[in-house]
This record gives sequence, C-alpha cells and structure tokens, in this order.
Amino acid sequence: MRLRRSRCLTCYWHQGLFVVHPYPHGTPTSLHPAAAEVLSAFGDWTTPGEAAKALDHLAPETVEDAVSALTDAGALLAEDGADADRDADIARRWAAWAPEAPFLHYAAQNDFLTDGVDAKPDSESAHELTPHDTDHLPAPAHMPPLFTGYPDAVRLPLPRRPADLRAPYETVLYSRRTHRDFSDDPVPVETLAALLSTVFGPVDFIDSGHGPLYRRTSPSGGSRQELDAYVGALDVTGVAPGWYHYNSLQHSLELLGEGFTRDEAVHLCAGQEWAGQAAFLVVLAARLERMSVKYRTPRCYRVCLLNAGHLGQTFALTATALGLGPAQTGAFNDTAVAERCTLDNTGHTPLYVVAAGHPHTDPREAPSPAALTDFREVRLYG
Ligand SMILES: Cc1cc2nc3c(=O)[nH]c(=O)nc-3n(C[C@H](O)[C@H](O)[C@H](O)COP(=O)(O)O)c2cc1C
Repeated sequence: MRLRRSRCLTCYWHQGLFVVHPYPHGTPTSLHPAAAEVLSAFGDWTTPGEAAKALDHLAPETVEDAVSALTDAGALLAEDGADADRDADIARRWAAWAPEAPFLHYAAQNDFLTDGVDAKPDSESAHELTPHDTDHLPAPAHMPPLFTGYPDAVRLPLPRRPADLRAPYETVLYSRRTHRDFSDDPVPVETLAALLSTVFGPVDFIDSGHGPLYRRTSPSGGSRQELDAYVGALDVTGVAPGWYHYNSLQHSLELLGEGFTRDEAVHLCAGQEWAGQAAFLVVLAARLERMSVKYRTPRCYRVCLLNAGHLGQTFALTATALGLGPAQTGAFNDTAVAERCTLDNTGHTPLYVVAAGHPHTDPREAPSPAALTDFREVRLYG
C-alpha cells in the first residue's frame, strides 16, 4: 500500500511534546520528533518499504512504528482512501491562505463537541491529543475586570447628550456605505461621544450565574465584551489630535499619546489614503483573557472575530444615522496600531479598525454603478 504525507498538516511543540496535527481528517497526536523525518520520506506516494530504504540510517522497526502511528493519526494517507482526495481538495482550495488560515479554521472546528481528555501524554509513544485538552492550564486566579481603564491617564469626560438616532431604520440601512472620501469639516465631540456610547457603552447589566456582565447594542459571544475601543482623533472639535482609550463605564476619553497626523493614519491603515482623510479611527482590540477565562477552546478566537464584525456593523449604522460616513479596514499595520494604542499585543491585541468623518460632497473614490453591459461577459451563477 502506498502512502503520502497529508498536505493539510501542521507540526508543533506543545507542552514539551512534539505534535503532528493533520486537519481536518486527523487527530493531533504527540509522537517522537523522529516522526518528522519519517514524514519527510512521504512527500509523494511511497510504500513503507521504499521509505525505510530512503531512511536507512533509522532502524526498520522505528520507521515501521512511526508509519503505523502516523497513519493512525491521519498524517499519512492511503492512496485508495477517500481522505486523500479530500486532503488534496482542501490543500488546493485553501492554497492562497495556507498554512496559517486553514490550520486555524479546521483545528478550531467541532472543538466544542469533544470532551476534553484527561491526557497525560507519554513522549515515547503516540498519544492522541484533542484541541480541547486544556487541563494543563492553570485555573484562573481571578476574573478579569469587565472594563478596561487607565486610572492614571489624563481624561476628557464626554458630553452625555443623547444621540439623535431617530432616522428611519430603512433610511439608515440602505444609505450606509463605506466612505473613502471625507470633507474637511471636523466632527463635533458630541457626535463622536454619541457614536462611542451607542456602540461601545453598556446598555444593561445581567447576572450570568458566574458574576455580573453587561450588554451592548451588539451581540457578543457569552456577553464577554472582550473588545475595547481605542480612538485615534484627527479632526474632532474639542479633542486634541492623539490616541485615547474610550472608557465606556465613565464615558470619557483617556489620553494615551498626544499627536496624530493624517500621514500616520495612512501608515497605520497599510497605506490606504482614505484613512488620512477621516476625522477619527477606532481600533477594536481584544482583551483575550476576558473571553478565554470562560471559553477555553481555540474556536473562541473565531468568536472574537465575529464579535468585532458585529460591533463594526453597529458602528457603521450608528455613524450613518448620525450623518457621518463610516469606513472599515481589515488591512492595517497590526504592530504599529498596537503600539499607538499602547497595547501589549500579547493578551490585548487589535482585531479591526473602523473610521468615520463627514462624507465628501463630491466623492472620487466611490465606485461607479455597474451598467447592464458590465454584466454581459460575467457568469452570474451556476
Ligand atoms: C471586514 C471588512 C474589511 C474591509 N476592509 C477594507 C479595506 O481594507 N479597505 C477598503 O477600502 N475597504 C474595506 N472594506 C469595505 C468593503 O470594500 C466594502 O464594504 C464593500 O466594497 C461593499 O461596499 P459597502 O460597504 O459600501 O456596501 C472592508 C469591509 C469589511 C466588512
């Protein structure tokens, strides 16, 4: 029988063990690191005998044992098995984003379905791990604080005038567009304050059974509210250009760093010119511990990203209702953004950047509407 190495395979060290982790058909398994060398002999369809010959510096039984363990784990696939076709298919479809994205995606799939095993892996022999195996993690010594605050920062209390959000829902929904041209008119601090409190402020408080939590206008997995808002003010009346944390409990801006230029905004947003025209940027940064203290499976990283999307949509709709043009970007200079927000970028890390300003009356970057002729050559479905 010929075997080949799974093309969807990540190997790593975890808890001092060497782990081969084929996805999505395999099982993360701790093996002797020599398994990596055995895997190297199976780049294409190969019999175990041929592999043993190629690895003649290893004892034949070592190769035989490793092949058996690697096959059980799903790291070696049989030529006539259905897994091999699927493996090749996934490798082809995810090629542009491999290996990082498919590993994250598949390694975090179904992980809430399996029970955590009480694993005490033996490094000498194959041992099945599950991504859910978090028994080694220390129990949290404390619950992380619900809110982020910078008690020593200079703070600017924000006006509490309620936002005028009476624009009809239909108007707001259909007029929301991503803006890439902004006017030079500064945004009044009242408007920024209304936007921040509507999107990021607490709406009510609930008893989760494990302590109090708060809810916002957006849904949030487990209501963990792990996302904090950092504001880069460029042109807001009454707010000096600089970087601030939005303290949603106090409804204040906490100064983290003075000064912020349009060129820097472009740099932070990976060279996108529109960012330099906006009146302000808002960075959504995840305080991971707030989520991981309750949800201890890797899947929950995906939930943080989903939560960021929800907040982004509420931001866009609210900005529209307030007469602003919203924008958002997944492309940003993570390290520089984290530095500007004074985030350690370890447990507190940026996930999403949104922005707003007054829409330009004569936008140049807005896409032109498609005409019938544009669709002539395009396959629309099927
Ligand atoms: C998660 C996400 C990331 C985006 N990233 C960018 C970006 O980096 N640069 C940009 O100009 N637009 C970005 N956009 C805006 C999209 O291009 C825009 O939503 C899309 O063209 C549809 O237009 P609309 O928002 O006006 O409906 C992003 C949108 C989303 C939801």
